[in-house]
Amino acid sequence: MVVFETLRKVKRLRLFEPSLVVVGFFLVFVITTCCFFYLNFKEFGISGQLKRFSWSREHEDSRVDFIGEKGDECDLFEGNWVWDEKYPLYESKDCKFLDLGFRCSENGRPDLFYTKWRWQPKHCNLPRFNATIMLEKLRNKRLVFAGDSIGRNQWESLLCMLSSEVSNKESIYEINGNPITKHKGFLVFKFKDYNCTIEYYRAPFLVLQSRPPTGASEEIITTLKLDQMDWNSKKWSDADVLVLNTGHWWNYEKTIKGGCFFQEHEEVKLDMKVEDAYKRSIETTLNWIEDLINPSKTQVFFRTYAPVHFRGGDWKKDGNCHLETLPEIGSSLVPKDNWSQFKIANSAILEHTNTSQVMKLKILNVTKMTAQRKDGHSSKYYLGPNKNPHRQDCSHWCLPGVPDTWNELLYALFLKYETSYKWNLQHTIH
Ligand SMILES: *[C@@H]1O[C@H](CO)[C@@H](O)[C@H](O)[C@H]1NC(C)=O
Ligand SMILES: *[C@@H]1O[C@H](CO)[C@@H](O)[C@H](O)[C@H]1NC(C)=O
Ligand SMILES: *[C@@H]1O[C@H](CO)[C@@H](O)[C@H](O)[C@H]1NC(C)=O
Ligand SMILES: *[C@@H]1O[C@H](CO)[C@@H](O)[C@H](O)[C@H]1NC(C)=O
Ligand SMILES: *[C@@H]1O[C@H](CO)[C@@H](O)[C@H](O)[C@H]1NC(C)=O
Repeated sequence: MVVFETLRKVKRLRLFEPSLVVVGFFLVFVITTCCFFYLNFKEFGISGQLKRFSWSREHEDSRVDFIGEKGDECDLFEGNWVWDEKYPLYESKDCKFLDLGFRCSENGRPDLFYTKWRWQPKHCNLPRFNATIMLEKLRNKRLVFAGDSIGRNQWESLLCMLSSEVSNKESIYEINGNPITKHKGFLVFKFKDYNCTIEYYRAPFLVLQSRPPTGASEEIITTLKLDQMDWNSKKWSDADVLVLNTGHWWNYEKTIKGGCFFQEHEEVKLDMKVEDAYKRSIETTLNWIEDLINPSKTQVFFRTYAPVHFRGGDWKKDGNCHLETLPEIGSSLVPKDNWSQFKIANSAILEHTNTSQVMKLKILNVTKMTAQRKDGHSSKYYLGPNKNPHRQDCSHWCLPGVPDTWNELLYALFLKYETSYKWNLQHTIH
């Protein structure tokens, strides 16, 4: 009898097994989250704990506003990711300008945590993003992104952020009627009511990639002209705001392996290392800014490398970032990636800091803050709902998500320039 009872109990228990697993997972999740927040608070002591527990900016008034004069010295890129219930700034389903590959939640990603983090600089507060204000400041202007697909990621993010406050969505259109796709060389979206355009030019190397010189050996299929900018650069140079990036394509796989060698003047340099070529291309870009950009018309930004998070491999070799749901808080936990692309570009830029380029160029120095966001990638959710791809995308970013923050930083710097710097300039001249 007792045995029978026990058996029945066991059987009943089995029925509940699936829900027990769910409860188990839930408990593990709750505990992890609690630990995470606890550890995060501990860093800041008891008062910090209370301050942070409110999760809102009202209690952070002791910091100066970046936009005001007192914010001048503030390094926007030093700070923390903080949980903020007021985020995200938009929903992907309300934004028709997004590639399928960035619509993670619509493609089945179950958690939404990655949309809830706000960047909090250590010594100042960022202005809350306001699309109306930005569009008003961009009236009759052109904002151009040029770079690789991570640049396109950021461009689409900005389209969503800006369009979120435009009620007539039909008033925003691609001027040639092209759909959003990664296969187009450039796309120009116009916000009709503001007569402004938000443009993207695909230029993964920024410098010119084209046919090799005549008589070059057969293994050379294309060359990167390290001393010439991309052909489209003519269209960028008179933009009002220009956001450049490059880095992800500067590796062996995407160059030499595919028969793409490096060229300076007429000479193809078969032995040149990718790192050296990358450095040359950055110098060419800096010189181009120096020679061809009119600083009273164009604000130029260079966004630094956005780290990838392939755990245990890379894109081809089973690298993964799936099931990462929380950022890495604490600077020691940076991915294995040596950031060589960041270091090369950074040192090239720093070497130029004694020239006047610095006056013209602003750095969106996002590498370190972005390195913490291993939770933000498209991972398995880049193909569409109910698709289970073999490979994971741990270099592009879900939207809404991390690139929104880069654009909030861009907004802050743009706004500061438009309100204080330009004002000062005018009042000094007159
Ligand atoms: C944006 O700024 C405008 C003009 O200052 C203001 O009327 C509007 O309420 C702001 N929108 C948000 C969402 O804060
Ligand atoms: C619209 O903006 C463009 C620059 O993008 C400018 O050249 C043109 O004059 C503007 N049109 C009007 C009507 O202001
Ligand atoms: C990073 O550097 C270490 C040693 O400096 C090297 O062993 C490793 O292969 C490098 N990793 C990458 C991804 O370049
Ligand atoms: C900047 O510094 C480098 C080395 O420190 C030097 O070679 C270069 O001439 C300097 N440029 C200017 C414009 O002073
Ligand atoms: C960007 O920030 C890093 C620290 O994260 C710093 O080492 C680097 O010098 C900065 N680069 C520029 C160009 O400001």
